[in-house]
Amino acid sequence: MKLTLHVWRQKRANEPGRMARYDMDDASPDMSFLEMLDVLNEKLIAKGEDPVAFDHDCREGICGACGMVINGIPHGPKRATTACQLHMRSFKDGDEVWIEPWRAKAFPVVKDLVVDRGAFDRVIAAGGFISAATGTAVDGSAIPIPKTISDRAMDAAACIGCGACVASCPNGSAMLFVAAKVAHLGLLPQGQSERHERVRSMVAQMDREGFGACTNAGECEAVCPKEITLENIARMNRDYLRAVLGERPEAIGSGGP
Ligand code: SF4
Ligand code: FES
Repeated sequence: MKLTLHVWRQKRANEPGRMARYDMDDASPDMSFLEMLDVLNEKLIAKGEDPVAFDHDCREGICGACGMVINGIPHGPKRATTACQLHMRSFKDGDEVWIEPWRAKAFPVVKDLVVDRGAFDRVIAAGGFISAATGTAVDGSAIPIPKTISDRAMDAAACIGCGACVASCPNGSAMLFVAAKVAHLGLLPQGQSERHERVRSMVAQMDREGFGACTNAGECEAVCPKEITLENIARMNRDYLRAVLGERPEAIGSGGP
């Protein structure tokens, strides 16, 4: 496959960047997108040029490191697929491919396609855990949990913290990410004792980090590689209201678990 790549090049955070054009004439449809970038980098190194910096780790869709915007869409054109799991067969011979870093105020560019997603770590540190001493591992069925609830908690726990939701949002909002983290603990019995404190702290940290507000654009759900749903945001908003207003059902509505 022959491709024309346009890649965002930026040496460091405080320097302006630019799109650089590269001709790629030997991409295979069976390569992953990151393998295609590896080949590009080998060519650049052979020519004595600086390789394109990009984040990656697992390359199997579970770590969330590999975020980049491909042809205007975070993680590229294939739904529910991380950039590392995207294959070149999703493109056509002769295509032009535009590759950029996440664009969001709270994710400053470090170099080329690499952004600093430390803001997510600080949101997690603000409350994305349970602090109860767990002792030794308990039997899996010691605490009965309805299947519908455990399924919803597991679906929320699938969030890999990649940041595509933020990059796609016109407001640079992190609501889908934070809501997924709030939901996966808040739905389970083990997460109840800190449920309200957790949502309050995590939302406060999210605001301190400079993420925007949610206006229900829905772009986050559309690009999320783990198909985290907007329902989690509604649930987080209900939990947050409970946390700041106290348990006043008439002010909040029924809410549910
Ligand atoms: S909610 Fe989806 S898009 Fe956002 S960080 Fe989690 S996995 Fe990535
Ligand atoms: S490199 Fe881990 S999800 Fe892509």
